[in-house]
Amino acid sequence: RTVVLIGAPTDAGAADRGSSMGPEALRVAGLREALAGRGLQVIDRGNLNGPGNPWQHPVDGYRHLTEVTEWNQLVHDAMYAALKADQLPILLGGDHCLGIGSISAVARYCRERGKKLRVFWLDAHADFNTRELSPSGNIHGMPVACLCGFGPAQLTEMSGRKPAIDPSWIRQIGIRSVDPLEKRFVHEQGLEVFDMRYIDEHGMRETMEQALHGLDDDTHLHVSFDVDFLDPEIAPGVLTTIPGGPSYREAQLCMEMIADTGRMASLDVMELNPALDVRNKTGLLAVDLVESLFGKSTLMRRSAK
Ligand code: ARG
Ligand code: MN
Ligand code: MN
Ligand code: MN
Repeated sequence: RTVVLIGAPTDAGAADRGSSMGPEALRVAGLREALAGRGLQVIDRGNLNGPGNPWQHPVDGYRHLTEVTEWNQLVHDAMYAALKADQLPILLGGDHCLGIGSISAVARYCRERGKKLRVFWLDAHADFNTRELSPSGNIHGMPVACLCGFGPAQLTEMSGRKPAIDPSWIRQIGIRSVDPLEKRFVHEQGLEVFDMRYIDEHGMRETMEQALHGLDDDTHLHVSFDVDFLDPEIAPGVLTTIPGGPSYREAQLCMEMIADTGRMASLDVMELNPALDVRNKTGLLAVDLVESLFGKSTLMRRSAK
C-alpha cells in the first residue's frame, strides 16, 4: 500500500498562529520513517502552497473565509488525486478547518465508487459551530457543520454535493468542549458523540467497539485526528488544550482498534502547534500513534478484527 503525505501549512482557520508549522514538525518527528518501518511505501508530496495568514478579525462571522476556502480547495484536490490513484492520503495540518476539503474529497471519492463512508472525528471539540453559533468566528470550530451542509456555500459544496456527508456517518470520540449554542445543534442533528464521560463510564475498549460497529468490507473509514484529542499533559503542543483527555494508553488502544479493522483508507493529523510544544514531544507522540493506526503492536495478535 502506498501512503501519500500532503502538507497543508496554514493556521488561517484558528484563533492564533503556529499550526502552520505542524507538517514540518511531523516530518522532523520521523513520520515518513515510521510509516516506512511499517512496510508501507511512502511518498511525501511536500507542502501545498496556499495564501498566507492575513491575521484579521472575523468578517460577517468568519475569520479569513477567503484564505480558508483557498486552502480547502487545494487540500480537496490533493486528497482526491491521491485517492483516485489508489493511494492512502495522510493530510498533515494545519488547523482543523482543512477537514472540510479533506473529507469533501473522501466523500466525493466514496460516492463515485459506491462505497459507504464513516468518519471518525477524534477531538476535544465537536467542531460543529456555524457563524450564528460560534463564539469566535474561527473556522476550525466549524468543519463538521460545513461537511453536514451548514455553512457558506464555498465550504459546503466542495464535494460537488451538499451536504458532503450525513451526520449519521460520523463518530466523535474524546469530546469535552462544546460551546453552549453548539451543544444544542449537536443534539438537533443527532451526532453520535462518545464524549469523555462516556469513555470514563464505559472505557475506551467498549467505546471503540460501539464506534466501529457496523463497519463492513464496503466501508471507507476516514480518521480525522485533532491532536488536542489527547490529554494536554501528554500533548501540550496544541492551541486549544482542554484538560481531561484520553491518556497515552487509552489513545493507543483507540488507534490499535482502528488498525485492527483494516478499513482506514485516509487520515488527517491536525492542529499540531510546534510553537507551543516542548522539544517536539507532541509531534513525536502523534507519530507514535500514527504507527499504531497503521498496525504497530507490541506482539502479534491472534485474531485481528
Ligand atoms: N469551539 C471553539 C470555537 O468554535 C474551539 C474550536 C477548536 N477547534 C479546533 N479544531 N481546535 O472557536
Ligand atoms: Mn478539531
Ligand atoms: Mn480540537
Ligand atoms: Mn513509536
